Amino acid sequence: MRRINIAIDGFSSCGKSTLARQLAQHLGYTYIDSGAMYRAVALYAMEHGLVKDGVLDRDGLLERLGGLDIRFKHDPLTDRSATMLNGRDVEHRIRSMDVSDHVTLVSPVPEVRAKLVQLQQRMGREKGVVMDGRDIGTVVFPDAEVKLFMTARPEVRALRRYQELRAKGAPVTLAEVEDNIRRRDLDDTTRKADPLTQAADAIGIDNSDLTALEQFNLALGHVVKVLGEPAEA
Ligand code: DC
Repeated sequence: MRRINIAIDGFSSCGKSTLARQLAQHLGYTYIDSGAMYRAVALYAMEHGLVKDGVLDRDGLLERLGGLDIRFKHDPLTDRSATMLNGRDVEHRIRSMDVSDHVTLVSPVPEVRAKLVQLQQRMGREKGVVMDGRDIGTVVFPDAEVKLFMTARPEVRALRRYQELRAKGAPVTLAEVEDNIRRRDLDDTTRKADPLTQAADAIGIDNSDLTALEQFNLALGHVVKVLGEPAEA
């Protein structure tokens, strides 16, 4: 059967990664979390003294950009991938609230985006990739055969994220999570470089009232339909 790329975009905490993982597992494709790459750059900046009082030393980051190596290491035991930053497993660290709070300092920088987009495009060259993010259907894979754009009501998203973080033992409040989501929504949609927008040919899915299984079946229906169509010349 022919292989395709699937682009999943949407606001933060919309269940993109859950769906992307389910689809990748079902199809035997590779799941790539592009947000993890922006989070890794944010962590790098924080650890190298490039963020002071909430302000990014942009020139300092650009000088070091060439030496920044981000890749994913697949663990066959868990069937999950860990984000590796210059050879170090940072998968757990990049999910913390302080990295979430700093990521929109680095994600609007065009040079950062250019570097990560190039890496992401390379990962999708052979097809068979499910990638989630903000600009996958618009910038990274504008020719993706299936594009999904996920939304959910803000209060539903905040509660999901809060429960996820608390389950991991993070000492956060619902108000903090709501505030972080609100700020990132604004930053993601208003930045100049590759802002979050729904591609004209993307299928919108509002999953506020859907279970993970209902959402999966809906998305898979779209994928199966496309796989049954003849490939474009
Ligand atoms: O999906 P996430 O919440 O882990 O993403 C972290 C941040 O990275 C998010 O605030 C926006 C940014 N991001 C981006 O600008 N482009 C992407 N393709 C993915 C994420």
